[in-house]
Amino acid sequence: MSGEFRRDMFRGLNNPIYRGSGYEDKDDTVKQSWSSGLSQFLNMLRIPRRQTIITVLNTLLLFIFLYHLPNISTPSFISIGSRGSSAAPRQMFISDPAELTLSPQQRQARLLEKARDVAIASPNFPAKIWQTWKTISLPNDDDYKLTSSWQRLNPSHDYRLLTDSTAEQYVIENFNATDPYIVHLYRSLTQRILAADMLRYLVMYRSGGLYTDLDTECKLPIDRWLDDSLVHLPGVQPSDINVVIGMELDVLNRTKWSDDWVKDCGFSQRIQFLQWTVWARPGHEILRRMITSLQDTVRTDASLTSTGNVQSVRYTGNQILDRTGPWRWTRVIQRYVDEIEGRTVSIEEFGAIRGARRFGDVLFLSGSRWSPGLEHSGSDDAESFLAHHFHGSWKGDDKN
Ligand SMILES: *[C@@H]1O[C@H](CO)[C@@H](O)[C@H](O)[C@H]1NC(C)=O
Ligand SMILES: *[C@@H]1O[C@H](CO)[C@@H](O)[C@H](O)[C@H]1NC(C)=O
Repeated sequence: MSGEFRRDMFRGLNNPIYRGSGYEDKDDTVKQSWSSGLSQFLNMLRIPRRQTIITVLNTLLLFIFLYHLPNISTPSFISIGSRGSSAAPRQMFISDPAELTLSPQQRQARLLEKARDVAIASPNFPAKIWQTWKTISLPNDDDYKLTSSWQRLNPSHDYRLLTDSTAEQYVIENFNATDPYIVHLYRSLTQRILAADMLRYLVMYRSGGLYTDLDTECKLPIDRWLDDSLVHLPGVQPSDINVVIGMELDVLNRTKWSDDWVKDCGFSQRIQFLQWTVWARPGHEILRRMITSLQDTVRTDASLTSTGNVQSVRYTGNQILDRTGPWRWTRVIQRYVDEIEGRTVSIEEFGAIRGARRFGDVLFLSGSRWSPGLEHSGSDDAESFLAHHFHGSWKGDDKN
């Protein structure tokens, strides 16, 4: 349309020439006529030719700009003025008070909608593997062998080892603008295992992909994990799954495993989900809730210390499990599953999973997939996706 318009404009200026050479011009005639017509016109106006070319180009650019204007997002300095309120971007890790007034059906509908959004935003699980350690020099030779298993078996995945300094950079870049308290927490926690726990949730929430502890070993390429698991669930598509969870503990038989045994081993329930490995599409509500929940509880704990500072917070081993570790992780997941299923899912339903089980958009793997060789939970090595070698480095060196 704009081509026609332009041509008509020039034709209008040069009617006699066009009439002379016939109306159906060939391209080069058009050019000639345009240029000769143009120079006549310029002579008439006494404008230097170079200046005109610049003017024409500028006009063209203006039209292009005006054409694209509706697609250009409003610059932030404009929206600050027009909103007239605080310019701070929306906080991500905050409990929504409106949630409390929702009916179970409304909560379920909300979570289903969020799950759909997450799947649409990332049609696949990001092909990324994340690990963390203090520096790029790993504690011992075994760890190099273990980390290389991830890279060797998954050449199409981006592998990234976050160190203390690059991890802090990651947290600042991704969260300072919206949730500065998260950055403060991450930097100030004296017991660094808490920060290491936090980091995996933050990375899974923001970037997604696979987080796995340094003492894990890849046994089967990640690309095969979903298909191999869904074999057990006819009708479930990979696109139905947004997050994958492994079993750390599955000891429902009270005769065999007493309450004391469960407690002495450092478990709070007979079913526990592991967080040494997390596999997720970015933006998942379970991760958002986990981060929100741990942030709120540590903030409260800090306010109760003598100084009121995060730096003064000291936890016992069990408190660590409860604040940032698998105890809280398990509770957050159970609550999410209840809500997205719209019913109370009993703990028995997580027991003795064969292959995999799905609740909402969450896939639960049998113990043998991500925690093979745990005798108490009856998981065996034959069909494992990974092995966990339980170096548990944090138990020794983070007591200070
Ligand atoms: C985080 O953002 C605040 C406010 O914009 C800024 O003052 C602060 O320096 C930032 N912190 C870091 C670590 O970049
Ligand atoms: C629970 O464990 C006991 C003792 O090992 C065993 O006899 C019993 O069959 C188990 N119950 C179930 C339901 O597996």
